[in-house]
Amino acid sequence: MKILVGALLSLLSITSALAETVLITGTNRGIGLEFVKQYAERGATVIATARRPADAKELIALAARHPNVTIEALDVTDVTAIEALAKKYQGKPIDILINNAGTLGDVPKQTIGGLDQSEFLYVINANTYGALKMAEAFKPHLAASTQKKVFGMSSGLGSSAMVTRRGGFYAYRASKAALNIVFRSLAADWREQGIIVGIIAPGMVETDLLRASGFQGRGITPTESVTGMIKVIDGMTLANNSAAINYDGKVIPW
Ligand SMILES: NC(=O)c1ccc[n+]([C@@H]2O[C@H](COP(=O)([O-])OP(=O)(O)OC[C@H]3O[C@@H](n4cnc5c(N)ncnc54)[C@H](OP(=O)(O)O)[C@@H]3O)[C@@H](O)[C@H]2O)c1
Repeated sequence: MKILVGALLSLLSITSALAETVLITGTNRGIGLEFVKQYAERGATVIATARRPADAKELIALAARHPNVTIEALDVTDVTAIEALAKKYQGKPIDILINNAGTLGDVPKQTIGGLDQSEFLYVINANTYGALKMAEAFKPHLAASTQKKVFGMSSGLGSSAMVTRRGGFYAYRASKAALNIVFRSLAADWREQGIIVGIIAPGMVETDLLRASGFQGRGITPTESVTGMIKVIDGMTLANNSAAINYDGKVIPW
């Protein structure tokens, strides 16, 4: 009996994975590329965006192996392009939207002594406004889906509680702290419509972004991070979406 129930449950999860559609931004490298790989492998239909698809060699190779992956061009600071993409997929339910695209920005330009206003605003535009605008544009697609989940990709650097000895990264920190409050607010606004707005974080992951930050230690692999985040995404409901959740399931303090 136990074996039969187990088999039925795994069949159900395979069936729902096969039926799900996932939209992920910033997928030509790093964490975004790994998200595409893992969702494609579990049978989901994946819409993977990249700023310059023609240069996205690994993503193109992945899509060639998985016909369920479609690549679309998108810069998340281009509002017209976001709206055009939403229009292109009008009527198509999207179960999970992962706003992964993000930039650390130029570090010297967000260091005291080198502050640069346009760089600061660019980082906020890409990391905060881009994610919010994506959520707005794709709301009808989310509302029409089965899972109805949209995520902001946060960071420990956006946590006030986690600023210890070293500050810095002013623009990046501001953009992720802003993302947190914006997605908290969106979660409240869309709760009654059954849309689950969540905040996730990947841990410190071995990607170009981590290296550009000057971090000297070793991060976790994109595989470990994304495996953990997909578990968090699968487990997120309207009852437990009021905190930012790290890839390992731990709450990131505000
Ligand atoms: N790695 C970490 O330890 C870490 C920790 C906390 C949070 N995060 C967050 O995780 C997400 C992924 O980071 P990652 O480590 O994978 O960084 P990454 O290797 O630098 O990749 C960033 C991705 O975002 C894309 N992107 C940047 N600006 C964009 C824009 N304006 N429009 C569309 N796409 C854009 C990049 O595309 P291009 O190749 O065209 O630039 C690339 O695909 C980011 O939101 C980041 O803030 C990462």
